Amino acid sequence: MKSAADLQIITYPHPTLRYQAKPLRKVDARLKEIVDRMFELMYEYRGVGLAATQVDLPLRLFVMNSTGRQGDGQEIVMINPVISRPRGNEIAEEGCLSLPSIHGNVIRAKTIRVNAFTLDGQEINQDFSGYEARIIQHETDHLDGSLFIDRLKEGSELEIQGELEQLEIDFESRQRTGSLAEDSQLKADIAAWEAAYC
Ligand code: NI
Repeated sequence: MKSAADLQIITYPHPTLRYQAKPLRKVDARLKEIVDRMFELMYEYRGVGLAATQVDLPLRLFVMNSTGRQGDGQEIVMINPVISRPRGNEIAEEGCLSLPSIHGNVIRAKTIRVNAFTLDGQEINQDFSGYEARIIQHETDHLDGSLFIDRLKEGSELEIQGELEQLEIDFESRQRTGSLAEDSQLKADIAAWEAAYC
C-alpha cells in the first residue's frame, strides 16, 4: 500500500473517481497522515475541497477549507458524511481538481444538514449553507462516484466535450506507457485499503 507522501490527485477518467467509497470504520496514525497529505495537495492545487477517492483511496472521507488558503478559514475533515434536509436551490459555477480546466454551472441545495465524524471521533451534526454547503455536496458526490459534470444541464455537456476527450487521451497514454497502473492493479490496491479501514 502507498504511503501518505506518495498520494497524488488522480484525474478523469481514472476508474477510482467512479468508485462508491465504503464507510470508514477505523482511524489510525496513517489515516491522520493521509488527511494531512490531502490538505497539502488541496492547497498546492488551489482547491477548496478534496475527497479520498480523488487520491485513489476508496474511503468515505473528505477535507475542505472554503477559503482555499492554508492558515486561513477553517479546516474541516468529514468522515462518513450523510446529507439530509436539502432546502432551496442555487446555481453556481464549479470546477474540480480531478477535471482540470473544466468548469460548469451546477444546481445545488442552498442549505443542508450534515451528519459526519471528525478525525477525533467527534460527531458533526450541523447545518451548512451557501458556498460551504456547495463544497460538501460536491465532495460527498465524489464519495458516491459522481462528478459535477454528471449534473450539468444537457447542452452545456457539449461545451466541455473537447476537454473531456483530451483528458481521456492523456489518461490512455499514461496507462499505455506504464506511468499509471493497470486496472487489475488498481482493483487490488482498492481491496487492500478496504480490508484495512472499512
Ligand atoms: Ni471535485
